[in-house]
Amino acid sequence: MTHPLIIAGAGIAGLWTALHAAPRRVILLTGAPLGQGSSTAWAQGGVAAALGRDDAPALHAADTVAAGAGLVDPEAARILSEAGPGEVEALYALGAPFERAPDGVWALSREAAHSRARVARVRGDQAGAGILAALIAAVRAADHVEIREGWRAEALMASACGQGCAGVLARRADGALEAITGEVVLAAGSLCGLYAVTTTPWTSQGHALAMAAALGAVIRDAEFVQFHPTAIDIGRDPAPLATEALRGEGAILIDQAGRRFMACAHPDGELAPRDVVARAVHRQLRTGRGAFLDARKAVGEAFPERFPAVFAACMSAGIDPRTAPIPVAPAAHYHMGGIATDLNGYTGVPGLYAVGECAAPGVHGANRLASNSLLDGLVFARRAAARLNAAPVRLAPGRAPAAPPALPGPALQRLRQVMSAEAGVERDGAGLARLINVIDALEVRYGPAPALIAARFVAAAALMRTESRGAHFRLDHPAASHEARSSCLTLEGLRALAAPLSAAGAAE
Ligand code: SIN
Repeated sequence: MTHPLIIAGAGIAGLWTALHAAPRRVILLTGAPLGQGSSTAWAQGGVAAALGRDDAPALHAADTVAAGAGLVDPEAARILSEAGPGEVEALYALGAPFERAPDGVWALSREAAHSRARVARVRGDQAGAGILAALIAAVRAADHVEIREGWRAEALMASACGQGCAGVLARRADGALEAITGEVVLAAGSLCGLYAVTTTPWTSQGHALAMAAALGAVIRDAEFVQFHPTAIDIGRDPAPLATEALRGEGAILIDQAGRRFMACAHPDGELAPRDVVARAVHRQLRTGRGAFLDARKAVGEAFPERFPAVFAACMSAGIDPRTAPIPVAPAAHYHMGGIATDLNGYTGVPGLYAVGECAAPGVHGANRLASNSLLDGLVFARRAAARLNAAPVRLAPGRAPAAPPALPGPALQRLRQVMSAEAGVERDGAGLARLINVIDALEVRYGPAPALIAARFVAAAALMRTESRGAHFRLDHPAASHEARSSCLTLEGLRALAAPLSAAGAAE
């Protein structure tokens, strides 16, 4: 008997895997109603792909490698960039309303660290919502996909021989637990909800990482969390985004006295790599000079039509971006690290795949190039589906695990505050050791909740990386080391490291 394919997560990567897994039967688990609870819905910029007449996949790959600060696998970047134009065409054919002229020419935005205007967009800043609507319609119409809304993967089932994954333990919409046997694709998104200031759904807390690690999967480059420099600073959780495409249109960053501060911080000014701009904004705020995105001249009266999501967010807080600068702050936005996979989404644990933001096939390195994330979710999901169809595994019977403990609300808020304070835009050894102590204390009290395990991976990898690279900036180790190396940790390794690491961090 062929078991179903179980996909946990319904953002762009989960839905694209589901569609391309046909004719295999798919059970799609989504904790929230389809269209909600995933970062995809909120993506503003679009899909980066070499679609312009002045562009080529090799140029896109080169920009991806350069942004990744030594840690991008060049083969992953080649695959991503060569597949890019075809994936955008495929979404367009499915009904995603990309802006395109009648002669077929794409409207392309410029974003940071891209050498060309390369981001295919949807109604200004509506890329995620537009793409997701098209994907949801296709998945709802697909006979091979059974959608279980309100169902959440709680844990993975180990196969009885202890060598792989045999399915998931799911929490059903009615609250009961049910074991489902099948090969599993984790597509459950980010861990940025572990931070107090984030642009992602706060429910994105690294659950996929914790589940995969429990079965022995390797977690790669967990320390690399990307902070978006221009989240709109109006005290909301999650924080709304002011897309980088605004800076691509010429919007500038100013302090409260109206002085432009990026011009002297980097030759590319506001379009410097995202980590550089995030640190500059962070320092402005720390020193009390304020940080604002000024689009009055660059966008002005066209704001409501060109950037409707940003406009609505600003107006809801009483800020009219046509006439006033927008207060901004860096926010945890994307996790470059994740479950290590090969270039077909395979984790090395038989029966277990990972795609999208929770996976780390090596394409983003230390710093993701803007708008490469939706493309990653398409390209590696399609490859995972192809590989799964080509080589389904014979599943050994599984053992249902117990559901993991959950972290109560106040403990989670404490963790989020400490993550932002100690593992944020700038870190140091002493702060990371304090973070590990907080995680230790919470774990003693509440047990090994997935949020704590995911946070521990970030903290330990950040403490061990005694250099600064890409999005990981250590105040006590501000230079990059000569050799660029990915970090790889298993849960077993993490536990063995815990005590020596917190002692080492405290001593720094
Ligand atoms: C943005 O629109 O600024 C975000 C795009 C991205 O994160 O890639």
